[in-house]
Amino acid sequence: MKPIFADDAAIENAVKLLRQGRLVAFPTETVYGLGADAANPDAVRRIFQAKGRPADHPLIVHISSVDSLNDWALTVPDAAQQLAARFWPGPLALILNKKPEVSLVVTGGQNTVGLRMPDHPVALNLLRAFGGGIAAPSANRFCRISPTQAVHVEEELGDAVDLILDGGACQVGVESTIVDLSGVRPKLLRPGHITRFDIEAVLQTELIVVSPQSGQTNPSALRAPGMMAVHYAPKTEAMLCPTDRLPEMIQELNFRNKKVGILAYSLKQAESRLTRLIRMPEQADDYAQALYASLRYLDSLQLDMILIERPPETEAWRAVNDRLGKAATALSASH
Ligand code: TXA
Ligand code: MG
Repeated sequence: MKPIFADDAAIENAVKLLRQGRLVAFPTETVYGLGADAANPDAVRRIFQAKGRPADHPLIVHISSVDSLNDWALTVPDAAQQLAARFWPGPLALILNKKPEVSLVVTGGQNTVGLRMPDHPVALNLLRAFGGGIAAPSANRFCRISPTQAVHVEEELGDAVDLILDGGACQVGVESTIVDLSGVRPKLLRPGHITRFDIEAVLQTELIVVSPQSGQTNPSALRAPGMMAVHYAPKTEAMLCPTDRLPEMIQELNFRNKKVGILAYSLKQAESRLTRLIRMPEQADDYAQALYASLRYLDSLQLDMILIERPPETEAWRAVNDRLGKAATALSASH
C-alpha cells in the first residue's frame, strides 16, 4: 500500500474505510498509528492480526476532544481533567477505568482503557470527520521500531493496511507518555516527551515510576507491552556504548573486519570503509525526533553491528534512554 497525501478527499476515503471496519494508518505527532474503529471489535481484531500482536496487549483509543473522555471512561478523575486540560492535544495517554460497553478486544481484556487526543492536524481532522474513537497502536509489526514516516508504515505492514495517510515526518518521534490514573496513585507506565516532572507539576503529587526492569520480573506489573525488554528493536545487533569507549570499540570491530553503524551525538567523525556514522542532535527532544528513522536507516545497510553512544542519564533523556534500552544491549564493564 503506497502512502497517500492526506488531503480532504483522502481523509473522506479513510473515514469510509474505517466505517467499513478496515484499517487506516495515520500520522500523529509521536509516531504513525494503525487505526480501526474502536467501537467495532472485528475491526480492532484486524489490528492485532496485521501487527502480529498478542491479543492481551491493550490499544490506545484516540479521541478528538477532552469531552470525549466521558464516552470511554467510567469516571473521569480530577487528575485526568487537569492533565488533559494542560497537555491535550498532545503526546500523553491516560489509563482510566473503562465503561462496561468498551470492548475487551480494545483493552486486551483489562478493565481499563487508554485514551489520547493526538496533536496532529491530519489525526484530528480524521477523528473529527469519523466522529468516534480510533483504536491505534504504533503502525509497526510487533516488537519492531515504530514508524515516524509514512513510507516506514509501508515497509512494516505492506498490504495488511487498507490506506496509509501521509502527513509527513512525526515531530516528537517517540511514543506518548503513559500515565495510569485507574488506581489510587498515579503511575508513569511509559516515559515520553512530556516528562515525569511536567506531570508532577500539574498534579502536585509524585508519580510512581514503573521501570522496565520491574515490569519484566514481575508479570503482574507488566501492564504495558512497551515495557518488555525486547521492543522497538532493529534486526541488526545493537549495542549501547559509553562515550569514552566508542573509539576503541569502533577500532576493535573494524580490526575484526566488522561493518559498523554508529549513532553518536558527540563523535564528529569516524572515517573508515567499514563504518557509517550518523551524527545525532545533542539535545534530547531533537534526538528523539530523529531516533527511529536513524535506527531504521542503519538497520537497512546490512551491517554487522550498530553502536549507540549512550546518552546522559538525565530526566530529559529518559524517553530516549528507555527506547534505546529496549533496542540495544548494554556494553558490560568487562567487555
Ligand atoms: O504515541 C502513541 O501512543 C502511539 C500513537 C499512534 O498514538 N501509539 C502507541 O500505541 O504507541 P502502542 O499500542 O504501540 O502502545 C500503547 C501502549 C502499550 O504499551 C499498551 O500496553 C499501553 O499503551 N496501554 C494501552 N491501554 C492500556 C491499558 N488499559 N492499561 C495499561 N496499558 C495500556
Ligand atoms: Mg508500539
